[in-house]
Amino acid sequence: MTADIIDGDAVADAVRDDVATTAESLSAAGVEPTLATVLMGSDPASETYVSLKQDDCAEVGIEARDVRIDGDAPASELYDAVAELNDDPDVHGVLVQQPLPDQVDDDEVVRAVDPRKDVDGFHPENLGRLVRGNARYVPCTPLGVQRLLAEAGVDTAGADVVVVGRSTIVGKPLATRLTTKNDSGNATVTVCHSRTDDLAAKTRAADVVVAAVGVPELVDGSMLAEGAVVVDVGINRVERDGESTLVGDVDYESAREVAGAITPVPGGVGPMTRAMLLVNTVRAAGLVEGVDVALEAV
Ligand code: GUN
Repeated sequence: MTADIIDGDAVADAVRDDVATTAESLSAAGVEPTLATVLMGSDPASETYVSLKQDDCAEVGIEARDVRIDGDAPASELYDAVAELNDDPDVHGVLVQQPLPDQVDDDEVVRAVDPRKDVDGFHPENLGRLVRGNARYVPCTPLGVQRLLAEAGVDTAGADVVVVGRSTIVGKPLATRLTTKNDSGNATVTVCHSRTDDLAAKTRAADVVVAAVGVPELVDGSMLAEGAVVVDVGINRVERDGESTLVGDVDYESAREVAGAITPVPGGVGPMTRAMLLVNTVRAAGLVEGVDVALEAV
C-alpha cells in the first residue's frame, strides 16, 4: 500500500479563506480583529515563527502588533507588556512566543495572559474548559490535527488512536479532545511517551498514530498497522549528507509504504498550526467585542 498524502497546505488555504471572510464581516461590523505577538529575546527560530505569524495575519485581514522585548530585560518588563495588551480594548489576541529567557517563569506568563485573549489556548482556565468539554480556545496544533483527520475522512468515534508525546501544548490537549464526546472525538486514546514499554506494540494496534514527541523519525513503517492514518507533528532539523534538512517524528519513506494516509513534513501539520492561530484570533475578536463569529475549525 502507498499512503494517500494529507495535504496540510491545501487545507490551511481553505481555513485561511474562511478566516478572511470572517475578518471581513467583523470589519464591516466595526471590529478590526487584532493579534499582538510578544517576542522576548532574539532566538532565530522564534524570530522566524513570529514573522510568519505577522505575515499570516496581514494575508487574511487581521491587524498584527509586533511587540519586542530585550532578552536581557527583567521579567517584569514582559509582564507589564502583557498587562498593557490585556487592557488594550483594540487588541483581541495576545501570544507570547516561547521559549522564553531563563529569568522568566513560563507558567507565570501563561497565567498572565487574559484568558479571553489567550489565542494559544495555554491558560489553565482554557485548558480546564477543554478538559470539561466546553473548550473556548483549543491550542492551535491539536486543532489543526483534528481538522486534518476530518479532512482525511477519519471517523474518530470508536477508533484506536495512539498519541506519541505528552506535552502540555500538543499531546495532552489532543488526547483530551479526541476522547471528548462529540463529532470530532469519541476515540479510544493511548498516550505514549519516553517511558512507554514496547511503543511499537502500541502503535501497531492503532487505527490512527499521531507522532508529537520531537524525536526525528521515531515511528517507522514496521511500527504501523496496514492502512493506519499517520499524523506527523514533528519538525526536526537534522544533518543529512552534510546538509541541514527538516524531518518529522515519522520515518516518512517507510511509513508511507504501510499507512493508508499520512501527513508530510513540511506541508502537513505545520501550516495547519499557523492557520488555526488565525481562527482563534477572529474568534477572540468576536468574544472580546461581543460579536457572533460562526467559524468552526473542525
Ligand atoms: N513556540 C513554538 N510554538 C509555539 C506556539 O504554538 N505558541 C507559542 N506562544 N510559542 C510557541
